[in-house]
Amino acid sequence: MRLLFIGDVVGRTGRAAIAEHLPKLREKLALDFVVVNGENAAGGFGVTETIAQDFLNAGADCITLGNHSFDQREALVFITRAPHLLRPMNYPAGTPGRGAWLYETAKGERVLVMSIMGRIFMDAMDDPFAAVEKELAACPMGLGCDVAILDIHAETTSEKQAMAHFVDGRVSMAVGSHTHCPTADYQILTHGSAFQSDAGMTGDYDSVIGMDKEEPIRRFTRKVPGGRFEPAEGAATLCGLFVETGADGLARRVEPVRIGGKLAQAMPTV
Ligand SMILES: [Fe+2]
Ligand SMILES: [Fe+2]
Repeated sequence: MRLLFIGDVVGRTGRAAIAEHLPKLREKLALDFVVVNGENAAGGFGVTETIAQDFLNAGADCITLGNHSFDQREALVFITRAPHLLRPMNYPAGTPGRGAWLYETAKGERVLVMSIMGRIFMDAMDDPFAAVEKELAACPMGLGCDVAILDIHAETTSEKQAMAHFVDGRVSMAVGSHTHCPTADYQILTHGSAFQSDAGMTGDYDSVIGMDKEEPIRRFTRKVPGGRFEPAEGAATLCGLFVETGADGLARRVEPVRIGGKLAQAMPTV
């Protein structure tokens, strides 16, 4: 199967990149399943029901979130009736929505998607390792699902790498989000899972992690907030990770995708 994970879509320019490129990518790469991280899609903070629907219309099958899951308060309500929308599964018990779900492709293959949030330099959360272990025990690849995708929403590469090795051989791809900058460490791990510390954001890279530069610089230099964080509005680079799996669900090929905007372009050859 051919899978694509697209990193954190930031603001209007990120949404425009999804609308422009995802339908063509879906076709060109003959994708079977697409996950988009949408935690920064609404003005940099959270996601709305309309935006989530736009992503589905453009070719996404599932939208994952992160620490900004509920910045738009309407998400607390519509996530309960939106199985295509996942927030990290290690939120405290009782948090609305779900963190993992089993989807079915048009061809009938079963796709498990899991969203998890790290704990280093982030909000206090339940143990992400225990949460993933429990989910994989309930739905092992090859039995409960044909392929499995894990979005590791975390700040540190060490925690992301530890999580990836922890699930190596048990998922098709373990891919990082949240840090908004694509890393060059994409690879197939020892036991067959594809990995990249961060898929990168889908946003304007002439920015500070997608935000207009002025306010972040002001806060670093003066320690006094002078205004709101606003998404940068230049052309976005759509960033993602493409993975092709074998019959066992494990990765055979892993390649980055970067389209538009300021970053060097990358497109898998198919
Ligand atoms: Fe993000
Ligand atoms: Fe995040």
